[in-house]
Amino acid sequence: MKLFLVASLAILVLASSSYQSEDTYKACHNNFEIGPNICAKFNFISSEEAVKKGCVTPTNGTTFYDLSDLPQAHIQPNTATMASLITNVFEDGDVHFAFASCNDIRDMRGFTSGYAGFTTGTGDSESLIESFTSFRPNNKLAPFLSNIHEISQLPHCDRRSRGGTSKLKGYCEAWRQEACDKNSGFSQLQKDWVFKNYMIPSARYAAQSGIYSPLGQAIFYDVIIQHGFQYVEPDINIVRVLTLTGPRAPEETEQSFLKRFLTTRRELQCCYPDNVWPASATRSEDFLSLVENFEYNKNLDVPIKLNNFERTVTGHEDFNKDIKRCI
Ligand SMILES: *[C@@H]1O[C@H](CO)[C@@H](O)[C@H](O)[C@H]1NC(C)=O
Repeated sequence: MKLFLVASLAILVLASSSYQSEDTYKACHNNFEIGPNICAKFNFISSEEAVKKGCVTPTNGTTFYDLSDLPQAHIQPNTATMASLITNVFEDGDVHFAFASCNDIRDMRGFTSGYAGFTTGTGDSESLIESFTSFRPNNKLAPFLSNIHEISQLPHCDRRSRGGTSKLKGYCEAWRQEACDKNSGFSQLQKDWVFKNYMIPSARYAAQSGIYSPLGQAIFYDVIIQHGFQYVEPDINIVRVLTLTGPRAPEETEQSFLKRFLTTRRELQCCYPDNVWPASATRSEDFLSLVENFEYNKNLDVPIKLNNFERTVTGHEDFNKDIKRCI
């Protein structure tokens, strides 16, 4: 999870030009100016200290929060499609699903690849490739499983080693080939896996706050894709954003709650002490403009404009293959 291709690329481009850092963080101005006003409540220290502080060891065999107390939730097919497209624009810059992407984006999570930014350092690539191998034993990624299992055994605090890619030579090429092979089922599996493991949990967190609109569900999905729901990363995760937002009052509208939720998230993105997260505050800003016009956008049945990314999502896109990376 958590890919920042767009953000990292923006940093690379800007770093090599003469831009000031404040221009890099387009969505961190006015009420979101980086400073103690909005940042003190997060208690972020330097990024290295934050990593240390965030070093929690799993004790119950999972790195994820327990969801059993959350209500069940249903997602309409159109909502699933639109939410996926919106998040893909934020993550990859356009509406073409990045099934075949694969890069080491140097965020200490190993290779980041595919539709939802599966990473070799956090266990989701491992889980995906395991299920792929169970129905397609001779796939080109299966040979990497034993090295990925080794990575998963490393202590969570040892991010440098968990993010290592030196034992995974050829992984990205294998990933691309399987994702581009239309008979392998790998791209469909990526979608199904994300639906079950991220989209449904995100809708259950939304339901916990009484959020059922398609736009609200899309917002929760994007938050869980970017921030996760792992208690081993206590600085940033959906539960922390919800806690800092505070519960939804009985008379509070969905629109008002979503504004508060996105405001907290945007502050958190702006305040995080690295140069990847603040750049990504543009996605919260785009969601805030959609929520501003809640009645019009709430069902995601109109063209959805993402201003910062200069893209409009309609739901009629071709989303079965990665037309950018596969010929
Ligand atoms: C695992 O334990 C952690 C820490 O106590 C807890 O926050 C989390 O909800 C638990 N996860 C599950 C799936 O039980």
